[in-house]
Amino acid sequence: MLNIGIVGVGTVGQSVCQILEDNKDIITARAGVEIVPTLGVVNNLSKKRDVSIKLTDNVDELLNDDSIDMVVELMGGVEDAYNVVKKALKKGKSVVTANKALLAYHRYELQELAGDTAFEYEAAVAGGIPIINALRDGLTANHITSIRGIINGTCNYMLDKMINEGIDYDVILKEAQELGYAEADPTFDVGGFDAAHKLLILASIAYGIDAKPEDILIEGIENISSEDIEFAKEFNYSLKLLGIAKMKGTKVELRVHTVLIPNTEMIAKVDGVMNGVSVIGDKVGETLFYGAGAGGDATASAVIANIIDIARKGKGSPMLGFKKPMEVGLTLAAKDDIETKYYLRMPVIDKSGVLATVSKILGDKNISIKTMLQKTCENNKATLLLSTHTSKESDIKEALKEIENSGVVLSVPVMIRIEE
Ligand SMILES: NC(=O)c1ccc[n+]([C@@H]2O[C@H](COP(=O)([O-])OP(=O)(O)OC[C@H]3O[C@@H](n4cnc5c(N)ncnc54)[C@H](OP(=O)(O)O)[C@@H]3O)[C@@H](O)[C@H]2O)c1
Repeated sequence: MLNIGIVGVGTVGQSVCQILEDNKDIITARAGVEIVPTLGVVNNLSKKRDVSIKLTDNVDELLNDDSIDMVVELMGGVEDAYNVVKKALKKGKSVVTANKALLAYHRYELQELAGDTAFEYEAAVAGGIPIINALRDGLTANHITSIRGIINGTCNYMLDKMINEGIDYDVILKEAQELGYAEADPTFDVGGFDAAHKLLILASIAYGIDAKPEDILIEGIENISSEDIEFAKEFNYSLKLLGIAKMKGTKVELRVHTVLIPNTEMIAKVDGVMNGVSVIGDKVGETLFYGAGAGGDATASAVIANIIDIARKGKGSPMLGFKKPMEVGLTLAAKDDIETKYYLRMPVIDKSGVLATVSKILGDKNISIKTMLQKTCENNKATLLLSTHTSKESDIKEALKEIENSGVVLSVPVMIRIEE
């Protein structure tokens, strides 16, 4: 018998309890032992919950119970969760968590602290998709050339509705909140931070890189306009919020932002709240993982897979995938050194010389234009839509500043990176 304590019996915690009961036969057969949810910890004991696990609001009761072998952390947040997990590991209890924020900040300390005690976190990235398992165990023979992930279902749902149904950003954000996809304070999702947390976890496994959210480029979906959507449609692109990791020599670019991606790419077809992750290995080529990135049952499916794995094997793979550091270590590329293609949108005065000014500023920075489209509007105004060949992030940013100060644009130019 394996006794587990669950810290946080909310959406995911309740699903874990229910699935352990519903699928007890197959879970016991696969684990080789019966997994018993022994004690749950919550904030508010008077809240109604549809589970039979005994509950407490005192986490020490769980941590001090020597009959509990494993702590499943499903409370969320960073510092409180960190303290609970640290105490559990110090007491020699194995840990399973779904908490990406905790791992985005503390994964290396926790790996160190865990030592030979099992510590698993499959549900922390892309919910029910077994991407940690795939990257850490299934693809270990490869150098990982790139990872591109749709790893925030809220943003994907919103972009999908904006593009395919023409719904405005504010309207669809409200709908996403009502459906429970977006938090009451949606910044974490729409600002790209949630996707960044997940990307950092994947980057540790793929590249051994220890970076924090503050170290990488993070932009959200807030500035997408109907003109960008029209441009995307006209040139057969989809608009997606991607978490991107790319290995270039000994440098790794890590970034989260909206991209224009050709409709023909498989990952461009991941719609609605679904998640999708494309991983390219130098030997295996492209592998694509698709599924539910959130929701109680889908997330609990990944949590229970970790519990079963630990029940079967005790300590399994190294937590972040490396037994020892690589001899030639990879390092994080500076944000300004990122190189990609760009789409630029700028409202301009419709008069002669404007195009020449914009082209000269871009040309002076070695930015070469691939396509250009001018849409004439009322009152002598027009919108210039440009796409570039591969350019450097710092050059684009400097050029946009100069264009903004040149007097030919009516508001700050908008830039979206193109992923092809
Ligand atoms: N929901 C998803 O689809 C999903 C997907 C992937 C990963 N995750 C991750 O899974 C974790 C749990 O998410 P969730 O959606 O299940 O959250 P949730 O519904 O808000 O549940 C959180 C639970 O933790 C309890 N709790 C919070 N702070 C506590 C504290 N200081 N002491 C004791 N109990 C505390 C809450 O108690 P009360 O019930 O009494 O308030 C609640 O039972 C998070 O790390 C989240 O990022 C969730």
